[in-house]
Amino acid sequence: MSFTLKPAIKDNFIDREPLLDEMITTLTNRKIDMGFALIGPRRVGKTSILREITHRLANRKDVVVVYFCLWDLVENNLREFSRQLIKTLLVGFRGRISVKYKLKRLLQVPVETIYEFLKATGISLRILDEIEIELRRKDRPLDANMLVERIFALTEELGREYRVRVILIIDEFPSLIDLTNGKKLGEGVIRKIRTVHETLENTVLCISGSIRKTMEIVALSSSSAFYRQFIIKRIEPFDELLSGQLLEKNLKRRITSSAIEAAYNLTKGIPFYLQLLGRQLERTDVEPINKEVIERVFEEILTEEGDIIFSEEFYRLSDRERATLRAMAGMEKSKLNEISRRLEEGANVVSKYLAYLIIKGMVRKEERGVYKIADPVFSSWLKEKFR
Ligand SMILES: Nc1ncnc2c1ncn2[C@@H]1O[C@H](COP(=O)(O)OP(=O)(O)OP(=O)(O)O)[C@@H](O)[C@H]1O
Ligand SMILES: [Mg+2]
Repeated sequence: MSFTLKPAIKDNFIDREPLLDEMITTLTNRKIDMGFALIGPRRVGKTSILREITHRLANRKDVVVVYFCLWDLVENNLREFSRQLIKTLLVGFRGRISVKYKLKRLLQVPVETIYEFLKATGISLRILDEIEIELRRKDRPLDANMLVERIFALTEELGREYRVRVILIIDEFPSLIDLTNGKKLGEGVIRKIRTVHETLENTVLCISGSIRKTMEIVALSSSSAFYRQFIIKRIEPFDELLSGQLLEKNLKRRITSSAIEAAYNLTKGIPFYLQLLGRQLERTDVEPINKEVIERVFEEILTEEGDIIFSEEFYRLSDRERATLRAMAGMEKSKLNEISRRLEEGANVVSKYLAYLIIKGMVRKEERGVYKIADPVFSSWLKEKFR
């Protein structure tokens, strides 16, 4: 048990039990063919939930869970995606293949060898061959539809062969749209997966995504490809009680209730920032930890780590988008006319910048003419940096 900035699993994972129960019960029930779509802001704990489920189901005989994250890809293209997804799928079956053929040795060999082995045993041979031939092509963009079909066919066949249900988890699913294959794949790939998805018998799909707008395009709005095909779960930050639990569990010192309240107000219960705060608190030795310590440590985090966490995303924006965010920094809510006055630009122009920022998940519209920066700590960092 310790503070961590990586996805939290096992001892580091707290709460979310009702959700985990529901997901595990549903996903392992062969009679239900719906998977889950997790949607929530950045750093709220989506990956942790998916990884914890993967961990809890790892020893079950009747399912194979395959966790795959699009943000882990080194190259953002369809070829790399297909290769890595197939690898991950085969790794998921590694234990079973070796059990079935009594080849313990296989557990230690590289994935390519398993691939070869699998082909040699005749399992899914035709499908793997087809995929491999396609992936080797360099003369034209790959046939995305064919690859999607074949990859799912492979999943289905492996499930059938080993009599298991395959739970395929794709984290940051909307990023599929941005994979390149000559040009960006676009929404066509989502529609293709949807068509294939309807025919699956041994595979259940779970997805997650952070940027609200893109998840909407993919799964939420009534015009989206996957509308009503997933059980949708919105992942919320922790409340004050849980925020306190997370801190108390890992700190081996007393912490006052007003300190917990301050920690909650500064982080709004977003687990990543609580972890960051906890890690920084471990470098102090005051006891009990009080409100003043929390506020001082939070300031330190903003100056020492804020740039590392936020700069890249911030400087990728256009000049005007950045100016808009600066005009909103540190405020709980901002009125459109107020932002427009600060920027000395017309409200209709500023609305456009805001619309882009909403699509990028950085701003939320609270009500007509009222906006806020989605991430409270990002907002504090901006205020601190540009004051
Ligand atoms: N249930 C939990 N218990 C303890 N810590 C958690 C929990 N969920 C998330 N965290 C912590 O919060 C941080 C972010 O978690 P995670 O990566 O799972 O979020 P995410 O929503 O997938 O973020 P991103 O938008 O960056 O993909 C990590 O430091 C993780 O350890
Ligand atoms: Mg994640």
